[in-house]
Amino acid sequence: MTGSAGLMIAALRKQFGETAAVDGVDLEIKPGEFLSLLGPSGSGKTTVLRIVAGFEEPDSGSVLVNGSSIDNTPAHKRNMGMVFQAYSLFPTMTTRQNIEFGLRLRGMSKRERADKANEALELVRLSSHGDRYAHQLSGGEQQRVALARALALEPSVLLLDEPLSALDAKVRLHLRDEIRAIQSRLGITTLYVTHDQEEALAISDRIAVMSTGRVQQVGTPAEIYSAPASSFVAEFVGTTNRLDCRVCDDEAIAFDSSGTRLVLGRHALQKDTLMVALIRPEGISITPANGSGGDESLVAAAIRRHTFLGATTRLELESPLGVLLADVPSANAVSLPLGSEVLLSLDASAVRLLPRP
Ligand SMILES: Nc1ncnc2c1ncn2[C@@H]1O[C@H](COP(=O)(O)OP(=O)(O)OP(=O)(O)O)[C@@H](O)[C@H]1O
Ligand SMILES: [Mg+2]
Repeated sequence: MTGSAGLMIAALRKQFGETAAVDGVDLEIKPGEFLSLLGPSGSGKTTVLRIVAGFEEPDSGSVLVNGSSIDNTPAHKRNMGMVFQAYSLFPTMTTRQNIEFGLRLRGMSKRERADKANEALELVRLSSHGDRYAHQLSGGEQQRVALARALALEPSVLLLDEPLSALDAKVRLHLRDEIRAIQSRLGITTLYVTHDQEEALAISDRIAVMSTGRVQQVGTPAEIYSAPASSFVAEFVGTTNRLDCRVCDDEAIAFDSSGTRLVLGRHALQKDTLMVALIRPEGISITPANGSGGDESLVAAAIRRHTFLGATTRLELESPLGVLLADVPSANAVSLPLGSEVLLSLDASAVRLLPRP
């Protein structure tokens, strides 16, 4: 069961009435790669997937598999496996019959079908559930059957549209890892749609962040997280503090809100250029206010709120720079009670500067 096709999406456009659902999307997915389309509701993710699957016709643009256009190939001949968000098993068929359905349409013999179904059931660890109907399966099991059904066809590309979003948090995490493990083992080229940034960061080789029908940035999870190309990406993927600033000289910026200077080191930006500084909550360090006075790079702040996140605690800080979010190890948060005064410093290497739109 392997399929390692390269998938290319070129200049894709699709308009629904006034809505440009897909507004010029170019993407290249390498053979065996797991690429996620990540974006808010309505950003065009499903439409891209449906066009790739052949369920929707684009207004213009092309889909290529291994360099050849499949634009005129009907959906059932595209050799793509699809798993949807909603449970989509045929309710009057058993698990095994669901998996064998597509194989039967391909004219496979009974014996071959049984073999393929066994293989697929084993892959999703449901060999003992072959005779059950959908209503006798949990949500997670139903999605595993849907995955087995898609994989039994030995597709060259696997398309998944929010396959985990109807499941509870724990099953979601578990199945997410299982999907990734199976995908890696089979080396199957995969396009995965999600609006869940944490899921996309955890599961993908690369992520394409979409909004309003366009791809805003493509990169590895680490690139998307640490070097977002726009404040949209920075704010959609993870949490970020966003501060307006201007360039003071060839090493430093000053924040609009307070005039506080921050030395970033050498840069080639023109003096007085208006910028936005993006700083992740982990890029802000906190020290208790007592003692270390006199250092101009430290900013006084008061703690307004604690949000316990497990290993870290997120602090909401009132400061001359504005309201900031900072993450500290939860063990340290105990000594930083609500209302207490602290000093914060911004880690210059964690500041990302973008032109102000
Ligand atoms: N068949 C259709 N007819 C009219 N408008 C449509 C149709 N399908 C999608 N749209 C519109 O196109 C836009 C993109 O929809 P799409 O389903 O691709 O978004 P999405 O990113 O998958 O969102 P979600 O995360 O909510 O699933 C939306 O504004 C949607 O309302
Ligand atoms: Mg969708």
